[in-house]
Amino acid sequence: MVRRIVELATLAPSIHNTQPWAWRLSDREARLYADDTRQLRVEDPLRRNMVISCGAALHHFQLAAQALGWRAEVKRLPEGDDPMLMAQVRLARTPFHDDAGEVLDSMRARCTDRRRFTSWPVPDERLEALAEEASTWDATALPVLDLATRFRLESSIRRALDLRASDAIATAEQALWTGRSGDDGVPLQVVPESPPGDDRLSRFGDGLLNDTRAEVRSSDGLIVLGGEGDSFGSWLRTGEALSALWLRATRTGLSVVPLSQPVEVPATRAELQALLRGTLEPHLLVRIGWQAIGRRELPRTPRRPVDEVLRS
Ligand SMILES: Cc1cc2nc3c(=O)[nH]c(=O)nc-3n(C[C@H](O)[C@H](O)[C@H](O)COP(=O)(O)O)c2cc1C
Repeated sequence: MVRRIVELATLAPSIHNTQPWAWRLSDREARLYADDTRQLRVEDPLRRNMVISCGAALHHFQLAAQALGWRAEVKRLPEGDDPMLMAQVRLARTPFHDDAGEVLDSMRARCTDRRRFTSWPVPDERLEALAEEASTWDATALPVLDLATRFRLESSIRRALDLRASDAIATAEQALWTGRSGDDGVPLQVVPESPPGDDRLSRFGDGLLNDTRAEVRSSDGLIVLGGEGDSFGSWLRTGEALSALWLRATRTGLSVVPLSQPVEVPATRAELQALLRGTLEPHLLVRIGWQAIGRRELPRTPRRPVDEVLRS
């Protein structure tokens, strides 16, 4: 039974689909470890994105457990010798939730769709509702509703893309995780073709995914996720919040694309900190928009089989 829950937790999003997690199971208990052999040493030297990814897996685990009739009692970062131990989860029986089927469906349907959003605006109330969902997981989520702030954030996002693109070592590390064969990394089949000109859609550059609506100007929304500080504990919470926000968005037809480069790159991270003036420590930005109805479904980004993430 716990194995089935872990299998569902492997559907969680992770930086470059590195799936940097490992689980150790006993009868009614699971321990989640960050697998730092999968850390991006150049792009993620502090392990922020690795821990956020583990937080997303932890949230998936809790939701999957609940959907299958188990309440998860979570101890985050329990004391001990292993700094990579992210959480200890005990399971206790609980009645099935009415929306269990819907929750499991959203976990299976969630994906990163980097194609350009449609021009339908995302109403402020939708962004606020998603931010509220994220905040219930003890992270801070700030919907960016003010145009001047949005403008400056967009400029930092573009600058981070440019700075990273001119960093040969970071680009090489990302390339290692792009278009590889096997069951991890980001397949080129889910990366949009670059539109003509300099208007890159994603950090992954030019992919194989036809994006026929690339001419449409989108009117998406932006949420900043963060916390009080920069620590394993606050990143883990941000990961849980990211997963909660994303699954809720999926259930309501909205598409989510995380943007970690502006936080990864020190110069743009400093810009974000100045812009946010201490209201929160930024951990991740997320773009939110509508994908066109009836669009071709994306191929699934692969996952490692559950046996590979289980430790004895
Ligand atoms: C912490 C974190 C940071 C991410 N940063 C980016 C990003 O900057 N750009 C992007 O296109 N996708 C980003 N992603 C999405 C991952 O690439 C994606 O989750 C992974 O490839 C698995 O694919 P899936 O979400 O379709 O299951 C990020 C995901 C996480 C959890």
